[in-house]
Amino acid sequence: MSNASFIVVANRLPVDAVVDEEGNKTWRRSPGGLVTALEPVLQANRGTWIGWAGIAGAAPEPFESDGVTLLPVELSENEVLRYYEGFSNASLWPLYHDAVEPRVFRRSWWKSYYEVNERFAEVCASEAAPGATVWVQDYQLQLVPGMLRERRPDLRIGFFLHIPFPPVELFMQLPHRMEILKGLLGADLVGFQRPLAAQNFLALTRHLLGYRPRGHYVTVDDRLVRADAFPISIDTAANEEVAGTERVRQRAKEIRAELGEPETIILGVDRLDYTKGIERRLKAFRELLEDGRLTVPKTVMIQVATPSRERVDQYIALRERVEREVGRINGEYGVVGLPAVHYLHQSFDRYELAALYQAADVMAVTPLRDGMNLVAKEYVASQVDNRGALVLSEFAGAAGDLRQAFLVNPHDLTDLKDGFVTAANATADDKMKRMRAMRRYLRKHDVSRWARSFLTALGVPERSAAYNPGS
Ligand code: ADP
Ligand code: G6P
Repeated sequence: MSNASFIVVANRLPVDAVVDEEGNKTWRRSPGGLVTALEPVLQANRGTWIGWAGIAGAAPEPFESDGVTLLPVELSENEVLRYYEGFSNASLWPLYHDAVEPRVFRRSWWKSYYEVNERFAEVCASEAAPGATVWVQDYQLQLVPGMLRERRPDLRIGFFLHIPFPPVELFMQLPHRMEILKGLLGADLVGFQRPLAAQNFLALTRHLLGYRPRGHYVTVDDRLVRADAFPISIDTAANEEVAGTERVRQRAKEIRAELGEPETIILGVDRLDYTKGIERRLKAFRELLEDGRLTVPKTVMIQVATPSRERVDQYIALRERVEREVGRINGEYGVVGLPAVHYLHQSFDRYELAALYQAADVMAVTPLRDGMNLVAKEYVASQVDNRGALVLSEFAGAAGDLRQAFLVNPHDLTDLKDGFVTAANATADDKMKRMRAMRRYLRKHDVSRWARSFLTALGVPERSAAYNPGS
């Protein structure tokens, strides 16, 4: 047994190993909101992070990065196919996102999901100090809390789901639903983004297991398990600081100039994922150009579509559809040197991203379904001059926090189009009032508050390593 007293377990480490053509290994930041949120928490707490390094084959040796001990777990090529791309991202991901894309089930995927969860639980069981706190993350590792409790009943185990938790009728479709539910119930605290998700989970314990949840609690084998909402957030101060630098301000001006000083820049920043509603957003933009309610070059759109899960069928098909639509819009509405949509299938550093946020007049965050959506929060934090307008889907968890956004239903194309036009035409005064209120909210509700409220609910004493940087 080792002596790690605060451990985070997630499918991914905060960095991915990348091997170049000469076989040299370097590290690159991993994509996604989970890493964005947890990285500052771990850095402040000097904990241990157990996760996959993003490439198939032997795991790299453990190492330290910014005070965090990173402990890579091995996944074979077959496990990447079945556990990660298969059960996690072709079965669970679409099902938990309201099946906005059909979910795929294959019997061979489950075995791999089970075995990889077991491996994570074993690594964790051997690293954790007696009585340590272990915080398990997300849908890829739902069996870990139960497996860990069997091996190490002395541990305090928390679980947080970063994505939505589906209603009972949808969850019931899932093969091995009982094992998954029992796996989650191995935790002392199961955290969700929104209250409705916690309610879905508690209702399920009644429906599938005949338990009798009371309030936020359910009794499992004489143990009390709590299920509750803990909306995740960003490191607001760090985002504001980057956005306030001269480098970002200059770059934002440059971007506007490079685009020909349009009146309105509409920006989308998403992993290239079908839950993000990129296709509908493009369609809404095309129809607005068609209707003449928006015109090029007065208005331009930038769509950043971060590469994601590139070998999974649904993602390959989505990329083709999105790129076809971008081509169609540019073919019909672009002018020489000034396309209507600037499409960037790339990753950027945080300065460039902050500059894009600052340059944008209208930020389009219009997922069909999203657990939270940190891009929406980053955009708000980056508006250091309180300008800009956020068009936000009601189906993103963030809509529960950013109430002053221009809220839209992306399933309703008319509403989506109206939302864009209203945001583009809003007065500076209206936008400023909304932005100020949302920024105030984010300053108070930042990611360290999220972590503290979860860990307090888990019963971690405030004086423990999880709260004391450097101990
Ligand atoms: P998800 O977790 O589903 O990807 P979120 O909006 O919660 O969605 O989080 C996405 C995170 O990834 C944000 O922190 C955002 O800044 C980052 N990100 C998205 N696109 C890019 C990109 N092209 N380059 C760098 N970071 C990106
Ligand atoms: C979402 C999920 C994370 C995941 C991230 C990136 O934020 O909740 O668990 O890490 O997307 O996806 P990937 O499959 O690249 O890890």
